[in-house]
Amino acid sequence: MSNQKHVLLCGNWKMNFGPKETQAFLEKLEWNKKSNAQMRIYVPYVSLTTAQNTLEKRGLLGRDTVSIGAQNVHYEKSGAFTGEISALMLTEVGIRHTLVGHSERRQYFNETNETVLKRTVHSLEQGLEVLLCIGETLNERNSNQTESVLTTQLAAILDHATCQAHFGDALHLAYEPVWAIGTGVVATPSQAEQAHSFIREMLHTKLGSEKALKTRILYGGSVSPQNFKDLLACPNIDGGLVGGASLKLDSWHALWNLI
Ligand code: PGA
Repeated sequence: MSNQKHVLLCGNWKMNFGPKETQAFLEKLEWNKKSNAQMRIYVPYVSLTTAQNTLEKRGLLGRDTVSIGAQNVHYEKSGAFTGEISALMLTEVGIRHTLVGHSERRQYFNETNETVLKRTVHSLEQGLEVLLCIGETLNERNSNQTESVLTTQLAAILDHATCQAHFGDALHLAYEPVWAIGTGVVATPSQAEQAHSFIREMLHTKLGSEKALKTRILYGGSVSPQNFKDLLACPNIDGGLVGGASLKLDSWHALWNLI
């Protein structure tokens, strides 16, 4: 499919693939360069270095090829935060990308809009590129609260000067309706496009048209080779954040080849 948009295809491996499986996967990754797209894979912390080394050996590590990112990051530089990893530690091992605010972090680890803001601002200040995840639950959608949830999740981010400065270069968004994540129930292109155009409009109102257009808004939630093409055809969908289908080489290659 030819697409004039600049597309981001991002894999979120979640708690899958330690170093051995990471190496095996990335050694078999088939690469064909696309001038209009970038590939990113967010891997478990313990697999970050293996992922980078494996890609580097193949000459495939970098902005124009494949970037590796973390799935979360803490908002302090260092200190008594058992189990956490700081942005500084990530940059020390050469990582330039992170997810923030994934719904599984919000759901299972008490991540709030406030901590999402802190993690985002700190990451940006430390030079990381952030893919910030937002999205409503099924109950919220069924009670017509989708837009108000998205507004609340983005309000403090849109008001913060550091975030404002980085939207469109180091700060991008993923709309992931919680009810579509890992369920096999994908949002229809029109449901997704409606949410994406609402988000784009918010960016436009707050930041003006240039930043609003430069900010990539990815769709996530049961993306597969069967539905990606139709989603990508929507004017405000700039790529995908993919869980399950990023864990198999066949489906991952198929997604990349649909761009
Ligand atoms: P899924 O996960 O593609 O398995 O639904 C997407 C995500 O959680 O980012």
